[in-house]
Amino acid sequence: MRVHLRPSLRPAAVRVIERWVWPAALGVGSAAALSAGLHPHWLDLVWQTRDLTEAQWPADFTRLRLWLDAAELGLAALGAALLATVGGQGRYPAALGVVGLGLVASQVWPLPAALDSGGLAVAWGLLAAAWSRGRFGRASGAVRWGYAFVLVTTLVWAFGALPLDLAGAPPTGVPPVLLWNALLRPGLRDLGMAALLLGAVLAYAEQSPGAVRAGVLRTLVFGGLSLGAAMLFTVVVGGASALLHGAGTLWPSVVAAGLVAALIEPARTALTRSLRRLLYGERDDPSAVMQNLARHLAGVQAGGAPLTGSLEGALINLAEALRLPFVALRFLDGEVISCGQVPAQPPETLPLIAQGERLGQLEVARRRAREDFTKREWALLEGVSGQLAAAAQAWHLARQLGASQERLIRAGEEERRRLRRDLHDGLGPSLAGLGLKLEAARLLLGRSPEKAAEHLSALATEVQGSVGEVRRLVHDLRPPKLDDLGLVGALEELLVGVRQTGLSAVLEVGSLPPLGAALEVAVYRIAQEALTNVMKHAQARRVELRLSVTGGVLDLECQDDGVGLPAVREPGVGSRSMRERAGALSGTLEWLPAPDEGRGTLVRARLPLG
Ligand SMILES: Nc1ncnc2c1ncn2[C@@H]1O[C@H](COP(=O)(O)OP(=O)(O)OP(=O)(O)O)[C@@H](O)[C@H]1O
Ligand SMILES: [Mg+2]
Repeated sequence: MRVHLRPSLRPAAVRVIERWVWPAALGVGSAAALSAGLHPHWLDLVWQTRDLTEAQWPADFTRLRLWLDAAELGLAALGAALLATVGGQGRYPAALGVVGLGLVASQVWPLPAALDSGGLAVAWGLLAAAWSRGRFGRASGAVRWGYAFVLVTTLVWAFGALPLDLAGAPPTGVPPVLLWNALLRPGLRDLGMAALLLGAVLAYAEQSPGAVRAGVLRTLVFGGLSLGAAMLFTVVVGGASALLHGAGTLWPSVVAAGLVAALIEPARTALTRSLRRLLYGERDDPSAVMQNLARHLAGVQAGGAPLTGSLEGALINLAEALRLPFVALRFLDGEVISCGQVPAQPPETLPLIAQGERLGQLEVARRRAREDFTKREWALLEGVSGQLAAAAQAWHLARQLGASQERLIRAGEEERRRLRRDLHDGLGPSLAGLGLKLEAARLLLGRSPEKAAEHLSALATEVQGSVGEVRRLVHDLRPPKLDDLGLVGALEELLVGVRQTGLSAVLEVGSLPPLGAALEVAVYRIAQEALTNVMKHAQARRVELRLSVTGGVLDLECQDDGVGLPAVREPGVGSRSMRERAGALSGTLEWLPAPDEGRGTLVRARLPLG
């Protein structure tokens, strides 16, 4: 049987984000960071022109400058986030802390206008240098050289102003200083940023899809956090400055930095969790996947009508939670429950093993041809396959039981038809013939007693034949040993056969009530197969067959001291038919490691008496 399900997957949206939105955001964000870097450069130029000309500027210009600085900070932080995420380091709190410190530092030291973002510049430089240094170590080829270039230019840019700052040299009136500060240094910085951007793009090109996924997530998280932090800074610092009419922005900056430091970690955790769930489902949250699965499977274990629905529900849930395009349970007997689109390439497989018995396999398709599952996802899938196996076993057994009951009914029907045919075509005519011949013998009796005696003795032979025919019919229905020797005798006879192979075999029987014919046949056949398996597989020295009745249930146990069950048992016809026989009587059958002995196997059938 094949069950096919259709999950409501949304990989298309996620693919669009990964392929287009993220690179576009990377480009736009970096361009924004670049222009934010360029913008104060021109503003500084105007500022210095004011110093040079001693012209009076409107007071509003100071406030405008403050707001522009805040906007610059926000954009620069966003750009930093976008760039740093490609590196896969993602130390957000530290990075933002450094930027915040830079801002505070720029407020503490009243630097000349051209350098008033010097602290920020140093922070930026350190951050970028640390990032590209880390990447440099791991990169190769052209990308490595790109990083080296980035490292050098950012360091020069960041620290190029320090000698001037420390000397307290005014940038005014000295053309070479102006040239350096207003044109060359910002130019170098812009070059550095452009190289940084190039490095980021190159790094993006060499990312594996797994890293891209992490990058997308980090970008969104970092971007959101940067925006939040920038807004907080703008509101606190801008608001305080408006209230205090521009006087003293140190304390508001400290407060804003403190607030950002306190809120950043919880905000990051919450944002990461919700974005991850939104974009990639719950595959990174193993406990959520397991909990959901357990909820779905509770219905399967409970059995009953929703059983099939629950297992299918669990598969759909798994496909959606892990964003898998295809998931299937393939049983050994060819039954398949699948969910999603059958992949072009063969899917990954995990064995489905329940209670040491191999049932089949769990098949999962990769999200994309090139994208391998991460270690973490494999661990999750392995856990999931274990849970699914237990439920799949219940599901499969229930289906098998249904099928075997159907087979039994059909077999019963077949048996009746055969009996009718044999009785009608064989025994019926021969009895009718016997009747006719008896009548002829009766008629002969008066005229020729010798001939009648001859007829009668021939008839006696024919009757013997018919009796034999009846016995054959009956024997086909039930092992003759059961009638000849009774159940216990028949089992003892089985053990005689076992002993002939050199095994020591013992039968232990408690007091038994009279057993129904069907139960006797089931016990005999199950014991027969269990003993055959011991001789075939166990390499045992001793086998014990136990039969007892407790609380309306008959227990049949066959315990050996052999090699024990293999780690994964491949069920054959034998164990399937044993299970069917037990199932047909609403009983159960288990394979267990032998207790107390330390080795060997115990097969236990529990069959209700009626
Ligand atoms: N007493 C036992 N000791 C060790 N292994 C056992 C024992 N009984 C069963 N097994 C294991 O269980 C497997 C399944 O048994 P099963 O009777 O279903 O199949 P089979 O004996 O291999 O083939 P078949 O019964 O169809 O001829 C065996 O192949 C064997 O590995
Ligand atoms: Mg067998």
